[in-house]
Amino acid sequence: MNFLHNSWYCVGWSLNHGDGPVGIKLLNRELVLFRRSDGTIACIDGICPHRFAPLSRGEVCNDVIQCGYHGLEFDGEGRCVRNPHGSGTIAPNAHLNSYPVVEKSGAIWVWMGGKGAADPAEIPEFDFVHDRKNWAGATGYLKIDANYQLLIDNLLDLTHATYIHANTVGVGTDKWEGETRIDYDFSASGKVINSDYIWRNSPPTPLLREFSERSAGDIHVPMRLYLASSLILNIAMCDRGAPPETGDQMPSAHLLAPETENTTHYFYAIARDDKLDDAEITARMIKLVEQAFVDEDAPMIEDIAEIMDNREFFAMRPLILETDKAAIHARRTLAKLIRNELDNTASPTDGAAQKKVEESA
Ligand code: FES
Ligand SMILES: [Fe+2]
Repeated sequence: MNFLHNSWYCVGWSLNHGDGPVGIKLLNRELVLFRRSDGTIACIDGICPHRFAPLSRGEVCNDVIQCGYHGLEFDGEGRCVRNPHGSGTIAPNAHLNSYPVVEKSGAIWVWMGGKGAADPAEIPEFDFVHDRKNWAGATGYLKIDANYQLLIDNLLDLTHATYIHANTVGVGTDKWEGETRIDYDFSASGKVINSDYIWRNSPPTPLLREFSERSAGDIHVPMRLYLASSLILNIAMCDRGAPPETGDQMPSAHLLAPETENTTHYFYAIARDDKLDDAEITARMIKLVEQAFVDEDAPMIEDIAEIMDNREFFAMRPLILETDKAAIHARRTLAKLIRNELDNTASPTDGAAQKKVEESA
């Protein structure tokens, strides 16, 4: 299993990021981030080349991070700029890699692929995390013990909400009225994949009930995946048959960053467009969302990861339903992008070998 390196990954919410060093493992690599005096953020390899101390235990001063073990200093480009010992010689292998970082949509994004290909326009744009004039909400973080693609499967197939989330972010069939039904539509354009649901003639979910006054209507649930693994969901609870922009808006972000093959960072955010000053509503909403993720989704996904035991998804011959179109398209597109990346970055022999392994899987 390989990752897509040429992609932006969320590594934290801007609000929670102070000036001190923060360590995070991304795509199997330890990184450290710190803020420079001009406000920009630097991201370099997170392990000191001397005795492998985590640089997140170091200190930042004058745009330089000092290792907390024996004091080697590195700038935001990963260059070792000071050796306080002996003659002060800096060997060529004292330098570290650096990675492009962008702050956008209230989050911090890192690119681990070829630097020339890093285009911030590919990062999804949303305002509900940082625009507190028009939105009320909260952000959160979870670590899930499962491959990130199982989380993408989960988020692109929201038919699960009826069964697993009846008391939090879904509506159980026992609450469905005579004509309740779910319409589904799939579409894709380049690196954006849409999985659109409309819960027709439905009561609100417990989460929507926190601020929506509507007792029934259509719930628009359009999930967008920005490959590799950032998802935005703009839920709207509307009068029956009315367009989504006329409803109560409840956007959310689900930003996945693979830590390893079997663990995933999950940065999430939820917001609403009404009753903005009521902090108790925000607290209850985030509690419901956490309950949905922590108590309902995570145990199911982690059990599935254990059952799959790192076997290849398609090799297990999964039953594919009509409502799986987006998730299947996402897996196939991601596999193609990863394969292209391997062919273009590895030596010709390595690329061919890797392709053979994947094709035989
Ligand atoms: S481990 Fe960093 S300076 Fe020794
Ligand atoms: Fe879920």
